[in-house]
Formats: sequence, structure tokens, C-alpha cells
Amino acid sequence: MNSVKIKDNIYWVGAIDWDVRDFHGYSTNRGTTYNAFLIIDEKITLVDTVKYSLKDDFLNRLKAVVDPEQIDYIVINHVEMDHSGNLPEVVDLVKPEKIICSKMGHKALVEHFHQPDWPYEIAVPGQDISIGEKTLSFMETRMLHWPDSMFTYLKEDKILFSSDAFGQHLATSERFDDEVDPAILMEELTKYYANILTLYSPKVKKLIESVKESGLEIDMIVPDHGVIWRSNPGIALEAYDKWSNNKGDGNALVIYDTMWHSTERMAKDVAAGLQDENISVKLLNLRHNHRSDVMREVLNASAIVLGCPTLNNGLLPRMAGFLMYMSGLRPANKVGAAFGSFGWSGESVKLLNQAMEEMKFDIVDPGFRVKYVPQEEDLAKCVELGRAVGQRLKEVA
Ligand code: FEO
Repeated sequence: MNSVKIKDNIYWVGAIDWDVRDFHGYSTNRGTTYNAFLIIDEKITLVDTVKYSLKDDFLNRLKAVVDPEQIDYIVINHVEMDHSGNLPEVVDLVKPEKIICSKMGHKALVEHFHQPDWPYEIAVPGQDISIGEKTLSFMETRMLHWPDSMFTYLKEDKILFSSDAFGQHLATSERFDDEVDPAILMEELTKYYANILTLYSPKVKKLIESVKESGLEIDMIVPDHGVIWRSNPGIALEAYDKWSNNKGDGNALVIYDTMWHSTERMAKDVAAGLQDENISVKLLNLRHNHRSDVMREVLNASAIVLGCPTLNNGLLPRMAGFLMYMSGLRPANKVGAAFGSFGWSGESVKLLNQAMEEMKFDIVDPGFRVKYVPQEEDLAKCVELGRAVGQRLKEVA
């Protein structure tokens, strides 16, 4: 596949990773892309590079547009290795006049590549860099999602190079939002936010507010993963606005693992109670749903009900792993409840509640446990638990 012209004198020269299926614990079932861009002007400027393993694809696309030695500036919006892995090789090839990065980006680049003498130029927010007919300006986006992260805005073309933000892990031969299935695009945008940005929602909220207040005109949002938002960047901005405000859809999830189907039977009756209250509910068995797909559902959910039996005075390993993952991402503004079966010691419900308390969930009920196998009266209590969660959702709606 060749480079792709995205606007006059601006080219996509990134790489498509059709094979990646695990991105440090996030399941990337549709692969991903590492986007890089070339801006042809008096100072030819490369925005970002790619993961080392795909350096040849990137260099071939780059060379199809320009001789690398003619490149003057390299902008590094983010130092994580999927966007900087082949930077040392590119620097050797290009011998750039400037490597433009944030203040924290400078620090991170030196700490990654141990090249203190590269020609760094710190991008100062609000200070423009002219590259000829076009002008670059910069927005510090510290902790979105690394300390070094920044956006680059190409003023004349109203293009926002947004690094990881607004990205999707989606390998496709198409480069634009209007060329792919919108349902798949939204699914991957949601999953990306849920697994990468949920923890930083307060910062996303401030960023969206400052973009709105500044009146920044955006014709195109150009992330470093997935497709470019050219038809309607507002879709991505509105979605980030909603998620960063922790607005759930009023629905519930029953997330569980089970040993001998007792907790599974309980889960089904908790769901039945939610349905009695006309609450939309999904049952997510952790044996069959990857934690990162479950987090995608958590992002839009208003209630999380957790079910797990007790194993060795603790939780089943899949639930323990999921709780560690979810606690790290810190979803906010959720109603919570817990249940589970046990044989003798029975700590699981207490542990589930503790984890939800730490995430400041609104726990509607202390939850309950059932010894070995639930009887009819136990299952009736499960229905009641589901109803109690549903009623709380209606109160807080
Ligand atoms: Fe796509 Fe934070 O790297």
C-alpha cells in the first residue's frame, strides 16, 4: 500500500499492523495502525514515526513522497515506542534540523534513546513555528496519556494531529472515518477510550472544555491509531465529552465468573431482577469476555454488579485480574452490588465490595453469598438484588 494524500501537500506515511492481538493487555482483535504524516512545505515536516517492527513499511511510504534527507523537522507528539520505535534510524537518515517535542517529551526522548545531543526544540504552547506557507502550533496534553503527550495543530488546514487521543485500534486499508463501518468505528473508539483514557477523564474533560472555549476550528482530527476523522470530527469530540463527564447510559452489567455454575445461576436471576425494573442488562462471563472488551462495556454502563465464588479465601483468578485492571482505570459514577457462592470460608463478596468501595461506587446493598448451590429462596434474593440495583438507577437517572 502506498502513502495516502490526506490534503494538499499532506500525506499519511504510517504503517498498518494487521497482526497485533495484544497491546500490553488490551486485546486488539482488529489489529491497529501507527500513523505518521508528512507535510510538504519550505521546511518539510514529519509528524511522528512508527513501531520498530514496521519500520520498512513506513520508510517505503516516506520515500515514495520525498527523499528522507530533504526532511527538515520531525515532530514527536508522543514518545511511547509504538510512535517512536524507529526514531533513531529516522534521525540517522534525515539528519533533522529540529526535533520538535514537548518539554516532557524532550526528557522522555533522552531517557528512551540516550541521545542528549539531538537537535531538540521544545514546543511552547501558544508559540507558533512557521514551516513556510503553513504554521504549526502546539497544545500540551500532559497525561493524555503520558507526561510527554502533546497535540500539533496545523493552522491553515485546521488539522489537529491528536496523537493517541481519538484513536482506534483498527487495521484497515481505508484511511478515513467515512470509509469504514460506523458501528465498528464507534466500537473501537469506545474500547480505546475505555482502556487507555478512563483514568484520565478529568484531564480529558478540561481539554474538551478548553478546545470549546478557544473556538479552535477543526476540519480534521488526525490520530496516531486508526482512521482520520475528516467527515465529522464532532462525533469523536462529543463521545469524549460524554465519557469524560462519566455519563452512563442507564444500563447495567452483571460481570461474573463461576466454578460449578452456582454463581452463574445467581447472575441470571440478578439480571432478571434488573429486567423487572426495565433496565437493559448484559451478562458478561469473564471466562468468555476479555477484560478489555468488558471495560468497553463498563465505560457506558451505569451499574456494575459483580459475582464471584470464593477460591482459597479469595477470588477466582479471572475476577481478581479483572478487578486489578478495572481499579487501575478507575471508572467513576457507577452503582454497584456483589454476590457469589462459597463452600466454607466465603470471602468473595466482601472482597468485591471492597474493590468497588475503593472505586467509590454507590453500593446499593451489602450483597449476599450462597453456600454451595442456591435454592429457590436464594434465587429469589438474587432477583431482589437486581431490582434494588434497578431502582437505584432510576433514582439517580
Ligand atoms: Fe499509541 Fe501511547 O501510544
